[in-house]
Amino acid sequence: MISHSQFLAVIPRIIFVVAIQIIVGVNSFSEFDKIKSLPEQPEVEFKQYAGYITVDEVQQRALYYYFVEAEVDPASKPVVLWLNGGPGCSSIGVGAFVEHGPFKPAKKGLMKNDYSWNKEANMLYLESPAGVGFSYSVNESFYDLVNDEMTARDNLIFLQHWFTKFSEYKNNDFFLTGESYAGHYVPQLAQLIIQTKTKFNLKGIAIGNPLMEFNTDFNSRAEYFWSHGLISDSTYEIFTKSCNYSQIRRQYQSGTLSSICARVNRLVSMEISRYIDLYDVTLDVCLPSEKQQAYVLTQLQEGEKIDVCVEDETYIYLNRKEVQKALHAKLVGITTWLTCSGVLKYNMKNLEIPTISVLGSLVKSGVRVLVYSGDQDSVIPLLGTRSLVNKLAKEFGLNTTESYRAWFKGRQVAGWTQVYGDLSFATIRGASHEAPFSQPERSLVLLKTFLKGKSLPVSSEM
Ligand SMILES: *[C@@H]1O[C@H](CO)[C@@H](O)[C@H](O)[C@H]1NC(C)=O
Ligand SMILES: *[C@@H]1O[C@H](CO)[C@@H](O)[C@H](O)[C@H]1NC(C)=O
Ligand SMILES: *[C@@H]1O[C@H](CO)[C@@H](O)[C@H](O)[C@H]1NC(C)=O
Repeated sequence: MISHSQFLAVIPRIIFVVAIQIIVGVNSFSEFDKIKSLPEQPEVEFKQYAGYITVDEVQQRALYYYFVEAEVDPASKPVVLWLNGGPGCSSIGVGAFVEHGPFKPAKKGLMKNDYSWNKEANMLYLESPAGVGFSYSVNESFYDLVNDEMTARDNLIFLQHWFTKFSEYKNNDFFLTGESYAGHYVPQLAQLIIQTKTKFNLKGIAIGNPLMEFNTDFNSRAEYFWSHGLISDSTYEIFTKSCNYSQIRRQYQSGTLSSICARVNRLVSMEISRYIDLYDVTLDVCLPSEKQQAYVLTQLQEGEKIDVCVEDETYIYLNRKEVQKALHAKLVGITTWLTCSGVLKYNMKNLEIPTISVLGSLVKSGVRVLVYSGDQDSVIPLLGTRSLVNKLAKEFGLNTTESYRAWFKGRQVAGWTQVYGDLSFATIRGASHEAPFSQPERSLVLLKTFLKGKSLPVSSEM
């Protein structure tokens, strides 16, 4: 619930905005969303905006965004939408403040991120669907069962209004990006944009460690665990033969875990130990809350939620009242901003909707597709992702234009890549599920190359 003091604080602004809107029409002024400065923010030259776009006037459902203009010459740079996954996790809390936004919260306030994606693009972070982060629905029945279709529809309406508000960006190249469960959100939104013939300048999509096909993605986990020494030979055998992970997930979601699957799951968890970060098996633990973003994908740890670090700077920062005020954010129907929604009930059956073939049709309609994978992630491991992309290329008759090879950042191998015309696959070496969080420099090279439609650097000379 909104406290009285906060409520009072927003009233003068509402009256002012309403008065202006009567004259110029709803939602048309970006100036009101301009951020003066964030608490403890280093001085910067670029502009930032944040606020709400109403996607349903009657139900009072509104989506919250944070828009960061490119550091240099924003007019000539593309607009890149970023979506985090979950389903139900925040693109502001994870994408913007932990992965690739301009600032990272630290003990002494905000630090400048040297590898911010706004070096290459105008970054639009969207909290979606309603119920996630600062996005809300006043009619809370909306939260009862949200699905992929509703998410895509609201995101499309959001974008239509957003491009009206920021009409100076209407003709810039436009890209959709995201990770994890955004392997659903991003292709589905791109498909809807094309189906509805919405006039955005959509050039491409990029998805990182994405959920694209339930069985392949989840079953690649066994081999990943085994090949990284997390489980024994014998456990690997029963984890593939007696009960595999896609079965475990299905049974778990329907509330009927068979005794054999329960036993396999316990054995696997025990061998891995609790002190491994499944989103990056080489990283030390003390899971910060950004790791929750795919918590829905790992919540099998016998009902246990992933532990969050007490000192999670982003969580603390975004819950400070003066920060929320500076960000034009409100808490509607909730008392705390959370990394992953505590109110949203997402239709978990939707996890089984394959999105891999959607990528094929996007390529066919002239949209460039990049699928990338942080190679230390065991939640959506590169093994499944790589085979899905390979299979897709075969099915859609997309020939290899660049054979599997290493790509570079500086003098080091930054990952491996294979290109099939407008469809590309790339790994990021040493990166976690949230690749830009653990490999910011390599991730920025990948983004830059993708936006420009170029080949990844073939050697350290480039
Ligand atoms: C709230 O939303 C639910 C589900 O979308 C709908 O059935 C109901 O009529 C709405 N309530 C009001 C007061 O509009
Ligand atoms: C997982 O188990 C199910 C049920 O036995 C089976 O149909 C499926 O082929 C298995 N998947 C893999 C990848 O082994
Ligand atoms: C792919 O390669 C095959 C065999 O060389 C060729 O017949 C086909 O036309 C190629 N497809 C495209 C889209 O270039």
